[in-house]
Amino acid sequence: MAPASSTKTRMAELVREIQRLDHHYYVLDEPLASDAEYDRLLRELQELEAQHPDLRLPDSPLLRVGGKPLDKFSKISHRQPMLSLANALNEKEFLDFDERVRKLVEGQLEYYAELKFDGLSINLTYQDGQFVSAATRGDGEIGEEVTQNIRTIRSVPLKLNTKEPPALIEVRGEVVLPIQDFEKLNRDQEAKGQKTFANPRNAAAGSVRQLDPSVAASRPLTVFCYGLGAHEGIRFKRLSEFEEQLKKWGFRVGEWNRVCSTPQEVLKFYREIEAKRDSLPFEIDGIVVKLDRLDQVDQAGYVSRNPRGMIAFKYPPRQESTVIEEIIVQVGRTGALTPVALVKPVRLGGATVRRATLHNQDEIDRKDIRVGDHVLIQRAGDVIPEVVQVLADRRNGSEKKFKLPNRCPVCGSAVERKEGEAVVRCVSRNCVAQLKERIRHFVAKGALNIEGLGEKIVEQLVDAGWVKHPADLFDLKEKQFLELEGFAEKSSQKLFEAIQGARKPELYRLIYGLGIRHVGEQTAKVLAQKFGGLEPLFDASVEALQEVDDVGPEVAQSIHDFFKDPVSAKEARALLKVLNPVLPKKVAANAPFLGKTFVLTGTLPTLSRGDATKIIEDLGGKVSGSVSKKTDYVVAGEEAGSKLVKARELGVTVLDEAQFLKLSR
Ligand code: IVH
Repeated sequence: MAPASSTKTRMAELVREIQRLDHHYYVLDEPLASDAEYDRLLRELQELEAQHPDLRLPDSPLLRVGGKPLDKFSKISHRQPMLSLANALNEKEFLDFDERVRKLVEGQLEYYAELKFDGLSINLTYQDGQFVSAATRGDGEIGEEVTQNIRTIRSVPLKLNTKEPPALIEVRGEVVLPIQDFEKLNRDQEAKGQKTFANPRNAAAGSVRQLDPSVAASRPLTVFCYGLGAHEGIRFKRLSEFEEQLKKWGFRVGEWNRVCSTPQEVLKFYREIEAKRDSLPFEIDGIVVKLDRLDQVDQAGYVSRNPRGMIAFKYPPRQESTVIEEIIVQVGRTGALTPVALVKPVRLGGATVRRATLHNQDEIDRKDIRVGDHVLIQRAGDVIPEVVQVLADRRNGSEKKFKLPNRCPVCGSAVERKEGEAVVRCVSRNCVAQLKERIRHFVAKGALNIEGLGEKIVEQLVDAGWVKHPADLFDLKEKQFLELEGFAEKSSQKLFEAIQGARKPELYRLIYGLGIRHVGEQTAKVLAQKFGGLEPLFDASVEALQEVDDVGPEVAQSIHDFFKDPVSAKEARALLKVLNPVLPKKVAANAPFLGKTFVLTGTLPTLSRGDATKIIEDLGGKVSGSVSKKTDYVVAGEEAGSKLVKARELGVTVLDEAQFLKLSR
């Protein structure tokens, strides 16, 4: 087995990489990797975490559902969190799932199998039969309110088709854009000189997350419904029954679904749908198999945020062959040189592929990838595909081997490869490519979130020599923007105001924006809470940093090195001169919930999950997703399931909402 420290490094790398991909995929709607690549990372991390549960990082993507909401829409707390699904990538994995499930539930079981739509998941809320709001999943707890846009979708009933509607029901579904409409949309966008979308999923997401509802209205979106959230005044025994009811109420439900009583029947359904896949008018990436009986779903329980009684049974990613015309080298924020293959454009999984990542030199050598090679590339609805293998028998002898340069292709400085690392880095502290990436990170959503300061503009600002450090952004004059491509009075003023308006970021955003290696948003939050300012971090010892919850030796070392490095320290100090970070609310030393861990389960009578979480965190406590011996309290509402059972087993104190509120006073 690998030594613990290298395992830990790898886990941290995976967490960072997956977070980055998640951020692009869920928040920016601009995927960077193929599903296959993403799944591989996720799996590797899953395996490592299973082997070394003690090394799991606090910001592990496996502990949460998706990305953070954007800032532009108002937020909605889901009454019940929107969970995610574990994957089965082949038949064996599905049969393993079946075996596990049979050990978890009592009595006879049936599965409900249906299509896994590749779109944007959405929560639709109906009160007394009236459509009242729609929200995106967001991070699973809090989503964005997109009611106006969803209202434009004709397959979403504005009123339930019944005389006796339930008092409340949340219906979950997937917004999708049919493939043909997606292709037409891209043609139109191109003709108008506007941004095209990588795939139908992104187009659907981009249409829903538009401030102007006329945009969503102009796009033929549709919603397929499949899920049940919070509900009052109605009960369902089975998912199949629930979906029948949905149809009666007027929702669109997938046309293909089946109740199966054996795993073999599910496999048959899986294969039948796979044969249909290419002729379906919309993208699917698998089928979803769920225990049909809702009491059994609860009985099977939950692992982090996945119900154990359901699985996404995926189809193999789509593959296609093409030719590598050129290999270019990109330089990232930390100087990493990444080789990227420019390939002859091909259609794959509903999008046109032009580039494929080659990861690093080792990968190129291992697969013996050469310029001019015919290769098999693979993607499943994402932007950057990967080269699966070289089709070596199609070589004609003219193919050229590729070696990463010894110098940075952008600044010409030396490059270095640390022992044990696959990555080659440009060592220069003045590399323009690194600077551009650093600035991009600094202004991006999770960091300062400066609206309108996109990649192209950052590029021009750096090229003009106006921005040499992040702090320089704040010295830019309004008239300067007029010199940039495509800028006029109004746009200059807007960007200027956006930058000036960013002078008071929350402290954690500033810490995250510094781009310290291993410091993701979650770590930045913990650091902000513990240190209460940026200044104390300059002199924090590795030991002091390690005392922070969830910061291990490697992260601590990285933070320490960052602030001891004269160049980065100077950059950080310069930022303190121009910014006024908003400090996190101090938790008093005698805060009632200090050091206490809570688990929320079921629906509380008045508090949303978001509300309860805020109360707990404001009073110094932590909210966890699963019950263990370390749990201090379980706050249980209506329809609390397996967590409540577990709490009782372990003798953990269970509170109802009233008792919880009393305790918080
Ligand atoms: S059931 C616990 N059914 O796939 C979550 N999900 O990978 C219950 N999806 O977040 C989800 N089609 O956005 C379910 N027929 C279907 C689905 C489906 C697409 C999406 C959904 C979910 C994701 C999980």
